[in-house]
Parts: sequence; C-alpha cells; structure tokens
Amino acid sequence: MMSATNLSLGEGNTPVLPFTSLARELGVSEIWGKAEWMNPTGSYKDRIAAATITDALHHHNRGWIGTSSGNGGASMSAYGARAGLPGFLCIAADAPEEKIRSIIPYGTTLLPMSQLGLNEMDAISELAREFNLKLSITAYRYNPEGMAGAELIGSELPDQREFTHIYVPSGGGGLLVAIARGLGSRLNSLPKLICAQPRGCNPIVQFLKQQIEWPAIDQCTSLVSGLQLPDPPDGELAAIAVAQSIGWGCDVPDEETWSMQDFLSKKEGVFVEPASALAMAAISNDIRSGRLSPTDRPVAILTGSGLKDLRRFSSVAKSNSQTFRMSDLRSVLQKIDENSTPAKQ
Ligand SMILES: Cc1ncc(COP(=O)(O)O)c(C=O)c1O
Repeated sequence: MMSATNLSLGEGNTPVLPFTSLARELGVSEIWGKAEWMNPTGSYKDRIAAATITDALHHHNRGWIGTSSGNGGASMSAYGARAGLPGFLCIAADAPEEKIRSIIPYGTTLLPMSQLGLNEMDAISELAREFNLKLSITAYRYNPEGMAGAELIGSELPDQREFTHIYVPSGGGGLLVAIARGLGSRLNSLPKLICAQPRGCNPIVQFLKQQIEWPAIDQCTSLVSGLQLPDPPDGELAAIAVAQSIGWGCDVPDEETWSMQDFLSKKEGVFVEPASALAMAAISNDIRSGRLSPTDRPVAILTGSGLKDLRRFSSVAKSNSQTFRMSDLRSVLQKIDENSTPAKQ
C-alpha cells in the first residue's frame, strides 16, 4: 500500500489558455479558460481524489465508497487503485456511457443508482462509518478533507493572471466554494465569482436572485451531466461565497451550451464536456448583455474533457459511416479546393 504523503498521478498546476477566436467574435480584449481537463483522468476531480484517498490512508480506512455522476468516480477509482484501496461507487444510472465505461478498468465495484439525492448521500455516509470506508463524495457537506484538493485551483489562479471574474460551472456547489477558499485572503481585491448553472437545473442561481428561499428545487430538466443536482449539498455555502465576492448567478439554456461546445471545438481546438462549455456560454451571455465590459478579464473553469460525454455526437458518427475507396479521395479533396480561397505562396 502507498504511503499517505506521495499519492499523486500528476494532477494540478493546469495552464490557463487564451480563447482569442471567442474574444474576437464577442468584441472583447480577452477571455481565458483554466484547462482542468488536462488532469490525469480528464477532470478537476482528480485533485479531490488525491486529497480524499490520502485522507483514507491516514485514517487506515479499508477502502472507499462514493457517489458520482461519472467524473468523481473515475478519479476516486484511479487514485484508490494506486493506493491499493478497493472502491464502491454509487453511480447515477443515467450518467453518460463514456463516463461509466472509463471507470471499469480500475476494478471499482459499480452500483448504478436510479436516485442520488441528499437522502441517499446521508444513508451512504452511515454505511461508510459502519464499514470503515472513506466517504468519497465531492462536497464539503460530506468530505471537506477531500475538497481541500480543489482549493488549489483557487490558489493557482492569481499567479497565472489577474482575472476580474471567475466563471464556475456549478452543480452541488462545492467546486465554487473550494475556489473561493483557495483564493483566500492573500488577495486585496477578490475576483468576482460567477455561479454558472443550466437553466433547467439552477437552484443556486434562483436563490441568488431571491426567487426561492432555499437553494433547492423539485426537478431538473437539463441534460448537462455533472450539474443535475436539484438539491445541491453545498448550495448555501456557494451562494454565500458568490455574494461575498460581489459576484452573481448566470443560467444558460442547454442549446446555448451545445453551441458553445461546438464553437470551442471548431474555432479554438478545445473539446470540453458540456458542463465546461456552459461556463464559457455564461461569459458569452454576460458580454452580450453588457454585464461584463470589453476590458474585463474573465476566466472559465473548464472542468472536464469532451471525451467524457459523446452522446451528442453518436448519431453524427453513424450517419458518417460511409466508407471510401482510394479512387474517391481526389474528388473529395477537390471539393475543399473549390470552397477555399487559394493560400498565398
Ligand atoms: C465536469 C464538472 N464540472 C462541474 C461540476 C460541478 O461541481 P460541483 O458539483 O462541486 O458544483 C461537476 C460535478 O460533478 C463536474 O463533473
């Protein structure tokens, strides 16, 4: 079994990238993205898993048990395997196939669940205690030691650039709280924190707008995986962090998330999962509405890789299943010639 001090797969210290085509399109000077998809299993949850499993080793837990819509489960599985700790993962049954399949190689016991709300998480907490397993849920309410790993996102950002606004894709709210804590007190003027949620599942945004008295709603209609939490475990903490930074909430219809995902892939060469594209779509909305000014320096936390959720592309892949012979290639390439202006020699 690994010692508790050196459990790492190379997570963290992700770069920030400029999104110049998007900035040009929107008529502003700069837009940035923090490349969290570059973490070892393709999402920022690796940072939380490194800290969670390290804590499990410190406390001599026999293994770990967690809940996940996919990303957290892949991360806990990888770090658990490296530490020699067996894992039990209660995974949302409707999670994207890619997220579920990519957990299988690590040997985690997968337990697909039709419901994964606060009641289920509370019950799983009890089981974790009973069986001496580390509770590996990615929320402060259940696993503050693990969430400390995500605070590093907030402490890295100020050394990378002086951002004015940080756009955080939010489901349970823990990521936003972690970033707020990581920014900490070393800054004189905090960047504003913007809580970005899908319009079809926006309890924290509604609460910030004082449309509801508590950040919880009955139903979620959004298809953005990772952000489908109508009763977010860290919702209130996230709203407090936003208010303290004098930030705000921004909700985005799923169609705008899909078109931003397409823009980022086609014009920036960056294929992120929908939750990440949503944060960039929120920046775009706030620029168009005048809430952000052309000289602001916003950054979106691009939390996960596009390879994690390919559902939108499966029908396109099928309709492209035609095969070509070598003799067809010239005419295909000639079409490109016809459609493009000649490059200067
Ligand atoms: C890709 C992605 N982005 C953002 C989030 C939101 O994090 P939180 O639930 O802590 O708000 C998640 C959570 O699962 C996620 O998977």
